[in-house]
Amino acid sequence: MRLDRFLYHHSPHGRRDIRPLLAAGRVRVDGEVEKNSQHEIGDFTQVELDGVLLRSDTPVYLMLNKPAGYLSATTDSQHPTVMELIDERQTLHIAGRLDRASTGLLILTNDGKWSRRLTEPPQQKGEGVPKVYLVATADPITADTHAHFARGIYFAYEDLTTRPAGLEVLAPRQAKLTIYEGRYHQIKRMFHAVGNRVTALHRVSTGDIHLDPGLEPGQYRDLTAAEVSSIVPAHEIGPPPRRAS
Ligand code: URA
Repeated sequence: MRLDRFLYHHSPHGRRDIRPLLAAGRVRVDGEVEKNSQHEIGDFTQVELDGVLLRSDTPVYLMLNKPAGYLSATTDSQHPTVMELIDERQTLHIAGRLDRASTGLLILTNDGKWSRRLTEPPQQKGEGVPKVYLVATADPITADTHAHFARGIYFAYEDLTTRPAGLEVLAPRQAKLTIYEGRYHQIKRMFHAVGNRVTALHRVSTGDIHLDPGLEPGQYRDLTAAEVSSIVPAHEIGPPPRRAS
């Protein structure tokens, strides 16, 4: 298999990201930096991306109850990373990051094709995988927040409008929020756009994968076969929820 194809299948990156990754020297083949996308990968070739070994014969799928204070990253010189909590860390990547202060469901795998279903924004009609969060805010959640989120919030930096999100207010400063994509700091930016501020964020589910209440912060377990197969390709998911009129 060619190196670019191998990277596509064994990392969470999309096709367009592969060449820049190679050009930046982030990929090593059998210990040497390799920039040639056509390089042939054999059965026993070792491929590393950012120092993480990608090849693995058996797929691994884990859920971690992420504690606050841990970065969703492989290594960091300043802060502890979630990988430090995991034994099989050499081969895993994170399918949908959480900010350092955020807590809850974090999914890790070595199956790039599967994790792309969770993280790739839906291309056209597909709704995307719903991610449900418990959110605490600094100020009371105003009555119009629901309509703003249902309409979508414009992010100027990316020049896009977020997909309609579902908001259920649980208490004046507490809500359950369902989003269908995972933009950078998405929820913080959504609340900021309506003049509020997120003070705590906890992910409870991604699709039909729910954070196991038996996991203490920092603990993890394998996903069940049913949890793994519950995540289907985006084109098999129905149309997006209707916008509020
Ligand atoms: N949105 C955020 O702002 N932070 C997270 O950790 C997850 C979603």
